[in-house]
Amino acid sequence: MTIVIAPEGGDDIAAIADAVARAFGRADEALLVEALRQSGDLAVSLVARDDRAIVGHIAFQPLTLDPPPSTPLVAMSLAPVSVLPDHHRRGIGTALIRAGLEKLTSMGCDIVFVLGDPGYYGRFGFRAETALPFSVPWAGPHFQALRLSNRPLPSAAELAYPAAFFGGVA
Ligand SMILES: CC(C)(COP(=O)(O)OP(=O)(O)OC[C@H]1O[C@@H](n2cnc3c(N)ncnc32)[C@H](O)[C@@H]1OP(=O)(O)O)[C@@H](O)C(=O)NCCC(=O)NCCS
Repeated sequence: MTIVIAPEGGDDIAAIADAVARAFGRADEALLVEALRQSGDLAVSLVARDDRAIVGHIAFQPLTLDPPPSTPLVAMSLAPVSVLPDHHRRGIGTALIRAGLEKLTSMGCDIVFVLGDPGYYGRFGFRAETALPFSVPWAGPHFQALRLSNRPLPSAAELAYPAAFFGGVA
């Protein structure tokens, strides 16, 4: 079956919420995606479709650095990536992540962060050590980063996530 990856459309919102909730088996991540959409923080939102329906989704949101680096840096977060349970292990998650990273590169993104299983995200080049200079409330081995450019990174900075990550809408 052919899978097509495309930006979310205006008619996709309910199907995205359903796919994200079914992938995670709970509502939290679908509510996060909707809160990010409401606050204008869905910088990239892609869907995976088969010939009938949306079967997967990925979202990226902008981050700010504190203190701001002397050379401006574009930083993004990947959260969440979702594939319907009965479509797992067919490469749909991989296709969504690769398409998302290509889109971020075309937008001039320098670095992308993710909180997740290193066994999965390591396949795409995400590394916990790349994220080490950046402080977040969820620092640890699951917090990883992938550089998309060679621009210099700060030796230390705090990352500010959209308010939706903390249960609010900015
Ligand atoms: C994680 C997820 C998006 C992967 O989607 P997918 O379409 O099945 O992924 P792919 O087919 O591209 O890759 C599957 C491979 O990744 C592996 N994989 C999946 N989840 C993994 C994890 N948490 N840790 C390590 N490997 C994992 C599978 O074992 C499989 O390995 P194989 O290629 O050796 O068979 C999907 O399992 C999902 O939606 N999970 C629920 C939501 C979630 O946890 N999202 C990620 C956190 S934001």
